[in-house]
Amino acid sequence: MSAETPAKKELTAVKGTHDILPGEVEVWQKVETVAARLFESYGYRELRAPVIEHTELFEKGTGETTDIVTKEMYTFVDKGGRSITLRPEYTPSVARAIVEHRLDLLGLPMRYYYIGPMFRYDKPQKGRYRQFHQMDVEVFNEKDPAVDAEIIEMADALLRTLGVTQTETLINSVGCRACRPAYSQALREAAGLVRDRLCPDCRRKIETNPLRIFDCKVEGCREAARSFPKISEFLCPECRDHFAGVRAALDLYGLRYKVDPNMVRGLDYYTKTTFEVIALGGGQQNAVLGGGRYDDMMKDFGGPDICGIGFALGVERLVAMLALAPEPRKSLYVVHMGDKARAEAIRLARMFRRAGVETLIEYAGRGFKAQFSRANKLGAAWVLIIGDDELAKGFFKLKDMAAGTQIEGAPDALLAVIKEKQ
Ligand code: HAM
Repeated sequence: MSAETPAKKELTAVKGTHDILPGEVEVWQKVETVAARLFESYGYRELRAPVIEHTELFEKGTGETTDIVTKEMYTFVDKGGRSITLRPEYTPSVARAIVEHRLDLLGLPMRYYYIGPMFRYDKPQKGRYRQFHQMDVEVFNEKDPAVDAEIIEMADALLRTLGVTQTETLINSVGCRACRPAYSQALREAAGLVRDRLCPDCRRKIETNPLRIFDCKVEGCREAARSFPKISEFLCPECRDHFAGVRAALDLYGLRYKVDPNMVRGLDYYTKTTFEVIALGGGQQNAVLGGGRYDDMMKDFGGPDICGIGFALGVERLVAMLALAPEPRKSLYVVHMGDKARAEAIRLARMFRRAGVETLIEYAGRGFKAQFSRANKLGAAWVLIIGDDELAKGFFKLKDMAAGTQIEGAPDALLAVIKEKQ
């Protein structure tokens, strides 16, 4: 769109959303395929939940004092008077689906993954969108610290498989319901002492949930938070042992990580382990993925008392880091001349497509030369030529565009040649 002809509002994508066009979408498909295969190799199965959920799911799951719930949800009242929200994250939906379908009673591993859009009314900027995509993985009913390490290793394996190496893995433990209250109290006292240096939002958080002060992006608050007490000094023996177990298992993988005591993640449900992978030199929106353990969510939903752990990766942020060139497509272009040849071309195009060959056909009724130049422009690997002579013989010509060579044969034989080189 040129500067002279600004697009009408209804003809541009909604602020913070974007189209993924052909050329780019192939990279997304590649990433999604690699991720799905990798997750499945760790025993995960895909679980697809709806885009819309009851608002209470996120109020209860994500947490009423989080920025996501207080400021960023796309919430509306539907025609039946229900409060509905476009999911800002996926974790509560998976927990809901387990409770709703009693997947815990199947006796199968409860390991799920999903790749799809999420919605947050945040300030759009590079790496931060209002509709964005996550790859989300969740594990339930597995409490061993080795599981925490395994999931962090899987995240690392995904990035390495895609050639992403300039990252750092941060881990922390945010404690549990037994040890967090004392920590929150200590935070409240520390934050109270520097109240004047905090933004109005953080001043409110001193009372509601002081842990959330760590999420604030205002530099003054970040600076103040650096001197706050560290959660590591407040962990109960169980949380301390668990964290030591996670670290030992990570060492088993030889995985490098840094303990970041201020990394509490912006969601209320975490217990014990939290982790993030950040892009080195990635600017402000540098978290490629983040996750952690949430052992109380199911119970809080009124479901079975089973623990959970998972992470979500931001696909836009990942794709921006990749140097993947889409694989060149090898397609066939069918050119023809005359009515009978056109009918045969249509029939043969169907045959090649059924056999899995990407096939385009000329419908415009132009001369051979124009058809060839179109095939060239589209980068077709082969051109199938159907003229009167070919029709009479039932033998057609196939031109290999890169080699400049031409062979002649029955459709089946030509198909075999294409399939061999596809
Ligand atoms: P989160 O940290 O809110 O965690 O989001 C995970 C990732 O999604 C981020 O690291 C980032 O890459 C991407 N992301 C988040 N917001 C945006 C945005 N506005 N634009 C672009 N990318 C974004 C969760 O959502 C948790 N549900 C993760 C989890 C799963 N914890 C346990 N299980």
